[in-house]
This record gives sequence, C-alpha cells and structure tokens, in this order.
Amino acid sequence: MNLQHPNLLRQQAYLNGQWVSAKSQQTLAVTNPATGETLAHVPNLSAEEAQQAVHEAHQAQHHWAKLSAQTRCDHLLNWYNLILKHKDDLAQILSAEQGKPLKESQSEIEYGANYIRFYAEQAKRIYGETLPAANSDQRILVIKQPIGVAAAITPWNFPNAMIARKVAPALAAGCSFIVRPASQTPLSALALAYLSEQAQFPKGLFNVLTGESQPLGEVLTQHPLIRKFSFTGSTSVGQKLYAQASKNITKVSLELGGNAPFIVFADADLDSAIEGAIAAKYRNSGQTCVCANRFYVHSSIYDAFIERLTKASEKLRLGNAFTGSPDLGPLIDSKAVEHANALLKDALTKGASLTTGGKIDPELGGTYFQATVLKDANHNMDLAHEELFAPIAAIYPFDEEEEVIRYANDTPYGLSAYFYSRDIGRITRVYEQLQYGIVGVNTGLISNPEAPFGGVKQSGIGREGSHHGIEDYLELKYILLAGINA
Ligand code: SIN
Repeated sequence: MNLQHPNLLRQQAYLNGQWVSAKSQQTLAVTNPATGETLAHVPNLSAEEAQQAVHEAHQAQHHWAKLSAQTRCDHLLNWYNLILKHKDDLAQILSAEQGKPLKESQSEIEYGANYIRFYAEQAKRIYGETLPAANSDQRILVIKQPIGVAAAITPWNFPNAMIARKVAPALAAGCSFIVRPASQTPLSALALAYLSEQAQFPKGLFNVLTGESQPLGEVLTQHPLIRKFSFTGSTSVGQKLYAQASKNITKVSLELGGNAPFIVFADADLDSAIEGAIAAKYRNSGQTCVCANRFYVHSSIYDAFIERLTKASEKLRLGNAFTGSPDLGPLIDSKAVEHANALLKDALTKGASLTTGGKIDPELGGTYFQATVLKDANHNMDLAHEELFAPIAAIYPFDEEEEVIRYANDTPYGLSAYFYSRDIGRITRVYEQLQYGIVGVNTGLISNPEAPFGGVKQSGIGREGSHHGIEDYLELKYILLAGINA
C-alpha cells in the first residue's frame, strides 16, 4: 500500500468517539489473502467491552434523534465527501485486506458512498400521515420515529459497501450504529470510522467493534438496548443470529445466501448475454451473494454460448491488486479454495466437463482460482444446490420456458435471478414467475442504492437501499387525538 493519508489505516477499535485497544491486550491479525502477509492487528474485544459500547451508543442515539433532519443530512454529506476525497486510499486498504482488484475496490467505495448520499437526502423524507377517524371529534396521526440503537455484522466480500448501506439509513433515521465487521476485513470499517471522526460525528454515533464473531454477535443480537439488527452473510449463520435476536424480539434484516439462475433464451442478444454473464459471474472472483450460480442456456444456442463464454473467460487476467491491472483477485482463503475444488470435483465425476480453467494458478499461489467454465452441468451435482462463491460458471441446457422457470425456482434461496430475452411477452411472464427478490433482465449487474436489495425464502428478510430501506430503522407510532370538539 502507498497511502496518501496513512492515518486511515487504524489498528484500534472505534467506540464512543475513542480509539481503543482491548483491555486484555489481545489482538487479531489481518492478512492479505493474495500473499498471506500480515497487514495489521486489531483488538479482540470482549463481550463486556461490547456491552459498554451499546450503552454509549444508546446515549448518543438520544441526542442524535433530537437533531433536525437537515443536520443529520449535513453530517452524512460531510462523510460522503470525505469518503470520495480519500477514495484511492480506501480502495487500497480494501484491496489489501480483501484481495479484489483496485478498480473493483474503487467502484465499491463509490457504490458504498452513494448509499450515504442517497440516505442523507432521505433523512428529510421521513413522512408521517393523518388518517380519517371514525368519530368526528377524533384525528389519527401516524409518525415515524427512529427505532433506537442499530447493530450490524457485515461480511468480508464487500468490506465497505455492506457497512455503508446499513449505517446510512440508520443514521438518517436517527439511530446510532454499531458494526462488527468480518474478522478478515476490519480495516475498511475502521477507515470509515476515522472519516466519520473527521466529519465530526457526535461521539458514540458510529462505532466499530472488532473481535471474535461469537461473543460480539451474542451481544449485538441480544442486548435489550439494541432494537434493530442487520446481517449480511451465509444462511446458516443468519439462522443462528435470527434465533438469538428472537430473545428480545429485536427487529432483524437478513441478507443471506443465494443460488442465482442466469437464463439465456434462444432469442437473446448473445453478445449482451456474454457481457452480462462475465459481470454476474466474475465480479469479486465470484464471491458475491448475487453472483450467477447456475447458467441455463437454451439448447439451440448452448454450444455457441459456451464457446463465447470460454473465450471471454480466458481473456480474464488473474493477479495481485497492486501489480498490473488484473480482472480477478484471489479467493478469500484456503477454505474457500477447498470448497470450490470440492464442488468442481463432484461436478466432474457426475458428467460435467471443463472448457477452460478449473485450477489454482500455479504461479500466483494458493488462493488464485482460474476463471472456469463447466459444460453439461445437471441437477444431481452439488453445485446446482450450493452457492459456489468462486469463479466457476456451470452451464445447464434447457428446451422449454416452463421447464427453465421450474429449474430456476427449484431452490430454497431467492435472492437474485437474471435472464436474457428480447420478447416482451416472455420477459413479463418470466420476471413475474421467478421467485426472487431481485431480477435482472438483459443485464448482469443489478446492484444500486436507489433499488430495494434483498431476497425471499432462505435468502433473507427485509430490503436495503431505496426509500424502502430506511423503514427498517423506523417505528410507526399512531396517535389518537380525541375530544377535539369537547
Ligand atoms: C452481497 O454479495 O452480499 C452484495 C452484493 C451487492 O451489493 O452487489
């Protein structure tokens, strides 16, 4: 890293406006997945330290909620401007701890910042209602108030943007916020905290807790002062956290695993479908919850699609974020590589064959997985049912529209789906029948702050982004004004 502002690289947690070490002095190492090199150490905070942070965030929330919407908006815009000003440094920190190419980190920083800008404006659009009452001497008012202290556990695949899209609506609504970032990628969270300090956020408003997931997760899901908990990560961890949050009936948002179908109908524009397939499959080396997991391609264009996708995949360069300008970085760790290899092996033994890739790059080292295309995938293979989280495109043939809709929906997940067609009748029929929270039609990139992001079935609860996303941080209060003519 070559940071213009080395202060952005923090090695302490940020609680109640202070940079703190663990009382125990214990730390956790943060490593670069590309090289295995240790980048930094962050505090391994205890459950007691987390509880203290909750009390402080509660105090901060009380004051913050009393400020005008315009003041909350101004604070968020100051933060947004600082984030953009330090975009290059933030991208370097992100790439160093996460591994993704610098150009992807830069677009993640902008993506995250756009949530902050969007919700800065939304702070001024939290509207109430007056409703007609049954009695003429009564009026019904409905107001929206901040829910209280909000907490989140965020994943390593988007160390900046997944925080931004939770904290921005929380602060805009008048909540304070505590985040426990993934242990692999706490440095981006701490850099955001540093910039919140520079933006003169009141102390205790935005807090970054570092440490082990279990003790901190228990506090963040079960502390009675935390009224809203948000998590992005796997369905299995989400299920545990959801159960924990039930103790105090804490409101939850969960953005969990996916198993995205990507359907290419016979009438699709093939060039555009290939471009979309590259984007939907290889973003962050296949490590996003919305990455295409199953490619269904009509038999009449099956061979042509595979040939083109294979050629396009072969052009993608693997490499370290800091050398050259690679298209794909490493997988996050050796466990991720083992998972990808196991799914690949299972598919190969059950009849699939490779048209390109399928290996760890021999020169770059253990975590670099080649862009891989696998033909003749079928539903007996594990990769039809499990999230790959790797740059492996598995292609399944199909013949009929109804058949492919059935395949696409045959999963307990329902986060995102994609399809390509130029027939407006088919487009309408298919998007209406896909059981997914997000559907991309003739595009492979569906993420944006103006839209509600989230899934159905085991992919989660709630939506992030858009005017809908702030509702999870607000409570409705109904006031009955009576005796008006008395
Ligand atoms: C995710 O992988 O969880 C989020 C991806 C996105 O926001 O595009």
